[in-house]
Parts: sequence; C-alpha cells; structure tokens
Amino acid sequence: MAKQRILSGIQPTGNLHLGNYLGAIRNWVELQREYDAFLFMADLHAITVPHDPKRLAEDTYKVAATYIACGIDPEQSTIFVQSHLSAHAELAWLFNCITPLNWLERMIQFKEKAVKQGENVSIGLLDYPVLQAADILLYEPDLVPVGEDQKQHLELTRDIANRLNFQYGSEASPILKVPEPLIREAGARVMSLTDGNKKMSKSDPSDQSRIDLTDPPEVITKKIKRAKTDPERGLWFDDPARPECHNLLSLYMLLAGKSKAEVAAECREMGWGQFKPLLAETTVAALAPIQAKFNALMADRGYLESILKTGREKAGAVAIPTLTRVKDALGYSTPL
Ligand code: TRP
Repeated sequence: MAKQRILSGIQPTGNLHLGNYLGAIRNWVELQREYDAFLFMADLHAITVPHDPKRLAEDTYKVAATYIACGIDPEQSTIFVQSHLSAHAELAWLFNCITPLNWLERMIQFKEKAVKQGENVSIGLLDYPVLQAADILLYEPDLVPVGEDQKQHLELTRDIANRLNFQYGSEASPILKVPEPLIREAGARVMSLTDGNKKMSKSDPSDQSRIDLTDPPEVITKKIKRAKTDPERGLWFDDPARPECHNLLSLYMLLAGKSKAEVAAECREMGWGQFKPLLAETTVAALAPIQAKFNALMADRGYLESILKTGREKAGAVAIPTLTRVKDALGYSTPL
C-alpha cells in the first residue's frame, strides 16, 4: 500500500529555536518513517512582514540545513523551497478569487500581526492563509502536522477546498483532496524562558526568551541560568501556578529522552540551583551533534543546493498536476 502523505513548512525568518525543534521538526523526523513527507521553507510567507533581502536566501538555506541536521533524511523526505515552484503563487491567485474577504478578516493570526505592523499592513499579510491553503492543497496530503496556533489556517484550507469542489467540481470527482490537521498535543509546546505562559517565538524581542539551535554552549548555559523561576523548593509538572517549572521540566524530559515519570521522580526534591546546571548540560549535549551537522551542511552549499533541486523536481511532479486540474476546472485553456 502506498504511504500516506504529510506536508508542513516553516518560515525562514530569524534563527530556529528549541521550540521549532522539539515542537515541530522532531515530530517530522518520527513521521517521515511512516509517511511520505513533504517539508518546505515558506519563503513567500516570509515577506508578508518587512524583511531583509540580504538575508532571505541565507535564512532559507539555514532552515534546510536545520531540517537535515535535526534528522530529516533527504533520501526519504522531499525538502523544497516554496518560491522554487511557481505553482504556489499561481494557485494562491486562483484561490483568492473564490475566497470571501470576510473569511480572511477574521483570522486571529492576521489580527495579531496587523496590530504589530501598525500602518504597514500589506495585502500579503491578509492573504497569508490563502497562500498556505495553496501550499497544502497542491500536494494532496493526508495529514498536515502543525501547532495549535495553525488550527484556524487549516480550517480555512479545508473550507477553500470544499468551496472549490462544490462550485466547480462534482461529488463524484472532487477537484481537491480535503486534508486533516494533525495538531500536536499541548504538552509539546515549548514556552518562553522569560514567561512560562507565552510560546517560545522568533518574534519575541528578547533573545533571552528562547534558545536558538545555533547558540553556543556558554550562551545556552547563561540563558538557562537566567530563566524565570519561582521561590518554591522541589520541582513538579502540571502546576498551573508554576508554568515556568512545568516548561523547564518538560524541556529536560524531551532533551534527555526520559519519561515524565522518571523526570518527576528525579527532580521532585531538587532546587533550581541543582536543576538548572543539569538542564544546561543536557541541552548543550543534545544540541552538539545537531550543531556540528548544521555547520558542516552550511559549509557545503553545493550539497544543499543539490538537495533543494531534487526536492523541487519531486515537489513539482505532485504540485503541477494539481494546479492543472484546478485550472481546467475553472475553464482555462491549456497552452500548446
Ligand atoms: N503558517 C505556518 C507557520 O507559521 C507555516 C506554513 C506556511 C505552513 N505554509 C504551510 C505550515 C503549509 C503547514 C503547511 O507555522
């Protein structure tokens, strides 16, 4: 039986951090064994807010190198760059013309980002979820693994697919396959080091709030030493009054590869003075092999480019027929 397909992506903006690794990429590494995985760099999405052209290509290579360094196997999975396939932008345009404006105006992420941009809100920011729908629907995935914050975008994707199928297809032969979201459990969410109630995020202005995957050992150690804690003695999971304690224990659990019960028993009587150095040491050790591989990949541009070229070909073989099917359904003539 053919493997089911998954598809997901990350925007190449700023450095990837522990949240990207533990919350997303690490799950893909597991999933790629059972699923035909399509993983990409969303560089068209990266310009929906002001960006630096001098860094865009480099940041895109960095995300590709991070995927591979974290264990995504280019022999097994398809790794590609969104902007290398014009089908994404093209399908997004076709979707634009069937998507009601008010579906986009109520997107939570749009409203949050628009507030931050002030006067400088582009049509691209509003249109972001339509492009994301194109990213997804082009590849006919069975499942789309994403974080809780992307749930609304996945629902919109399904709505767009259903609307196109309803308006231009027939029940017997739908034009687009409607995918299912695979939302990871809340526990896999890595929180900020400065506020245990906030997600670890690239867009947090404080560097201290996150651990970047490329942070050197002394920076990791310093950030963990300064991480917000509380005056309580003894450490335990799942206490709503101690979100930082839960987050740091969870990080230790994931990075040490231990079970929750093991960590709970090991740390029950520890104070922060004992736990923080242990977490720092564990984090440094877990990231060392990833960093070594990342640096080697970044030093071999030719190899990375060859992976992305193959990825583009494999992605095109799936995406272009889907785009053609949609264009046919909308009544476009096929050029000779
Ligand atoms: N919006 C996603 C995020 O910020 C990134 C993304 C773009 C994506 N296109 C996608 C994720 C398609 C999954 C599928 O995390």
